[in-house]
Amino acid sequence: MDKFIITGGKKLEGRVRVSGAKNASLALMPATLLASGVSKLNFTPALNDVYTMIKLLNQLGVETNFNDDFLLTLDTKNITSQTAPYEHVKKMRASVYVLGPLLAKYGFAKVSLPGGCAWGPRPINLHIEGLKKLGAEIELEQGYIIAKSDRLHGAKINFDKPSVGATGNILMAACLAKGTTVINNAAMEPEITNLVQLLINMGAKINGINTSILEIEGVDTLQPAEVNTIPDRIEAGTLLVAAAITKGKITIEGGIDSHLYSVLSKLEDTNAKIFISENEITIDATDIDIQSVDVTTGVFPGYPTDMQAQWIAYMSAAKGVSTVTDTVYLDRFSHVSELTRLGAEITVQDNSAIIKGVPKLKGAKVMSTDLRASASLVLAGLAAEGTTEVLRVYHLDRGYEKLENKLKQLGAEIERVSTSEF
Ligand code: UD1
Repeated sequence: MDKFIITGGKKLEGRVRVSGAKNASLALMPATLLASGVSKLNFTPALNDVYTMIKLLNQLGVETNFNDDFLLTLDTKNITSQTAPYEHVKKMRASVYVLGPLLAKYGFAKVSLPGGCAWGPRPINLHIEGLKKLGAEIELEQGYIIAKSDRLHGAKINFDKPSVGATGNILMAACLAKGTTVINNAAMEPEITNLVQLLINMGAKINGINTSILEIEGVDTLQPAEVNTIPDRIEAGTLLVAAAITKGKITIEGGIDSHLYSVLSKLEDTNAKIFISENEITIDATDIDIQSVDVTTGVFPGYPTDMQAQWIAYMSAAKGVSTVTDTVYLDRFSHVSELTRLGAEITVQDNSAIIKGVPKLKGAKVMSTDLRASASLVLAGLAAEGTTEVLRVYHLDRGYEKLENKLKQLGAEIERVSTSEF
């Protein structure tokens, strides 16, 4: 087990390249199951959730090759199983993305139910109801979803609320259904748009890209294809907040500003300056007085829930009082009690955190509880006086590609150390 040891107080400075988006890759990889043959995914990030998806796909019979240039090739010619076992799904909820493609292509899929997660129940009812509308027979047996259909058919699907995962699953399944499917109130996250791009490259007929109404005209077969994975907006956002909380100045190479508009605009409200040029985002927070700024999370293009924990860490070092409300995941506040160990003054009421900025956070030993919670602890540690130890960084490694190396490149004092502490 690894931990980070951070000596806080160094201003981040310099340039850093953002990796491919984890949440895009986790949808793009299973989408390749819809065709038979070799598909290519460029800029796939080398992080643990991607390795977990590779293992799951390998178990289904997909042959993979992940090279040093972040090109992931997937050969789906010899699929031997349509079952995603509990061992994989419990590690990573996104494993449920194999459900739609396996069902649509092979007429059968058996996928473990994901269960809850560190921040409360995360249902998949929208995935199941949507697939049923496409004509799937679905039963739940011994913790598994068993889905069958000779040939899915098009349908009109309306989501009561937009869900990234359900949009992705139904979209993939509908590409091989007979007839036209309309998904109303579809998620518009850039990762869904990236998935649509791959599906179109595979021969799918999809209208409404980048909108909340997707219209899919089913085809009989899809071909293997290639796509570029978009840059990770959450990694980029995390690095920008790291610069802001340390009052430094950095340039992110490869970030797409339109994917990050809500975060960039909130950063500007705190007094940081943002400069956009082609494929680069610069933040200059040199010696700013960090102004408290309220944030409410929402679906894209709203402020991302995956940047909520990082914002709470940032506001802990701001002047004044701010409120951070999560409307997507109402219980996602496990980082708060750990941040208070670093001297932060935060109270949680319902789905809001009220943060009273303190003049100085103080280093301490803290424990990661989930992926973005870990990122918030690292950010707070970078700003804190003295040494912060962040335990259980395996949570962080699920979704960031060697974050400590990127931070070191920007001048942070951060070391990964192997430990028996848990
Ligand atoms: C994805 C992201 C995750 C991010 C989340 C919200 C991936 C791999 N993960 O997760 O990092 O935090 O989007 O941006 O892309 N819901 C239902 N029923 C369902 C599905 C979802 O009620 O069947 C609810 C959820 O509880 C939540 C909301 O819808 O309140 C949005 O969840 P969703 O967009 O589905 O999240 P994920 O796709 O699981």
